[in-house]
Amino acid sequence: MATTTNFFILGILFISVIGASGRSLLDNGSAGGIYDVTKFGAVADGKTDNVEKIRAAWQAACKTSTVPATVLIPAGTFVTGQTLFAGPCTSPKPITVEIVGKAQATTDLSEYYSPEWFQFENIDGLVLKGSGVFDGQGSISWPLNDCKQNKGNCASLPSSLKFDKIKNAIVQDVTSLNSMQFHFHLHGCSNISFTNLHITAPGNSPNTDGMHISSSDFITVTNSVIATGDDCISVGHSTSNITISGITCGPGHGISVGSLGKRPEEKTVNGVSVKNCTFIGSTNGARIKTWIGTAPAEAKNIVYEDLIMKDVQNPIVIDQSYGKKERVPSTSVWKISDAHFRRIKGTTVSNIPVSLQCSSKNPCENIEVADVELTYVGPQKSIPFANSCINAKAIFGGKLNPAACVS
Ligand SMILES: *[C@@H]1O[C@H](CO)[C@@H](O)[C@H](O)[C@H]1NC(C)=O
Ligand SMILES: *[C@@H]1O[C@H](CO)[C@@H](O)[C@H](O)[C@H]1NC(C)=O
Ligand SMILES: *[C@@H]1O[C@H](CO)[C@@H](O)[C@H](O)[C@H]1NC(C)=O
Ligand SMILES: *[C@@H]1O[C@H](CO)[C@@H](O)[C@H](O)[C@H]1NC(C)=O
Repeated sequence: MATTTNFFILGILFISVIGASGRSLLDNGSAGGIYDVTKFGAVADGKTDNVEKIRAAWQAACKTSTVPATVLIPAGTFVTGQTLFAGPCTSPKPITVEIVGKAQATTDLSEYYSPEWFQFENIDGLVLKGSGVFDGQGSISWPLNDCKQNKGNCASLPSSLKFDKIKNAIVQDVTSLNSMQFHFHLHGCSNISFTNLHITAPGNSPNTDGMHISSSDFITVTNSVIATGDDCISVGHSTSNITISGITCGPGHGISVGSLGKRPEEKTVNGVSVKNCTFIGSTNGARIKTWIGTAPAEAKNIVYEDLIMKDVQNPIVIDQSYGKKERVPSTSVWKISDAHFRRIKGTTVSNIPVSLQCSSKNPCENIEVADVELTYVGPQKSIPFANSCINAKAIFGGKLNPAACVS
C-alpha cells in the first residue's frame, strides 16, 4: 500500500516536470522553445548583474535538441557583464537570440576578461534580432581610451557585439548604443547578413566603429543607419566578398577598407562593394587606408558606387601613410589595385574632393574615378591630405569642382 502511494506521488511529480508539451521543464525552457532570461532568474531592475542568468538561458537553449530555441531578453533593462554565447549548439539550426528590452553593459571594466561584451562564438546558424537595445554605456569608459596618444597600441575596451567564428547568420533590427569601443566586431566569420541595424554613438566618442570586419568572407550589411565616432564600417585584413549597401553614415569617419598592414599576419582584401550609401557630415566618405606595413599584401577589387556626400570633408581618399603623423609620400608594401569610385555626387567641406596617396614602392593600379560630381561648399576644414594624386594610375571621368589631382 505504502509503495503504491509513493508511485502515485512520483507519477504526479513526473507529469508536472515533463509538462504538457512532453518536453522537460528542468532546463527552464518553455513552450515553443523560448528561453526567457527571466525564467532563469534574470531581473530587469537596471542594477543587478545578470551575467550568470543570461548565460544559463543560453546554455539551456544551445544544448536542447528538440525544437529550434530562442533566447529571449524581454522588456526591461537587464544589466550584464561579459556575456558569452558559445557553440557549437545541439539545438536545431538556427538558434535565435531575440532582444526586446535593453541589455546594459556593466561599467566595471574588471568584469571583462577580454575586450568583448556580448561574445558570440563558434555558432553555425544564428539569428540575432529584435527591437531592443544593446547599451554599452560607453561614456563612462571613453575617457580611459588612449588611442589618440597611443595610436599603434592603445588600451582595448570591450566591443559591444563580438562575432567570433560565426557562420550562416542573420542579424536584423537591433540597436547598438554607445559601445565602449567597436559596436560590432567580426573575426573568422562567413556568410552573415546584417540588415536594418541602428548604430549610434556621439561623433567625438573614440574608436566606436559601427562595424569592424576582419578575417571573414561573404558578409553583407544593408539598409542600416550608423552614426558614430569612428568608421561607420571598416573592412579589415584577410577579407573577401564583402557587400555593403543602403547605409546612412554620419557622424563618423566614413566607410573604409582598412586600416591594413599594421601587423605582419594581415592578408589580402579581395572584393569589397559599397553601394547606394549616403554620408552626412562625415570626416571621410569612401576611403582605403594602409600602413607602411611589414609584409606585402594586396587590397583589390574594391567598388564604391552610387554614393551621396553631404558636407563630407574627404569624400574620396586613398591613404597609404596611415598612422604616420606627417603625410610623407608612402613606401607601403601593400598594393592597391582595381579600385573603382563611380557615380559619387554631392558636397564637400574641404576643397579636396579626391586624394589618392599611393605607395612609391607599389603604385596603385587601375584606379577609376568616374561620374564623380562633388562641389566645394566650405567652410574649409584643416585636413592632412594633399590635393594631388601620388603614385596613382587613375582614370578620371565626370565633373569635379575643384578638379582633383591637378598638377
Ligand atoms: C531555473 O531558474 C531558476 C530561477 O528561476 C534557477 O534557480 C535555476 O538554476 C534554473 N535552472 C537552470 C537549469 O538553469
Ligand atoms: C548563408 O546563411 C543563410 C542564413 O543562415 C542560409 O540560408 C544560406 O543558405 C547560407 N548560404 C550559403 C551559401 O551557405
Ligand atoms: C538604397 O538605400 C536605401 C536606404 O538608405 C534603401 O531604402 C533603398 O531601398 C536602397 N536602394 C536600392 C536600389 O538598393
Ligand atoms: C568573391 O569576390 C571575388 C572578388 O571580387 C569575385 O571574383 C568572386 O566571384 C566572388 N565570389 C562570389 C561567390 O561571389
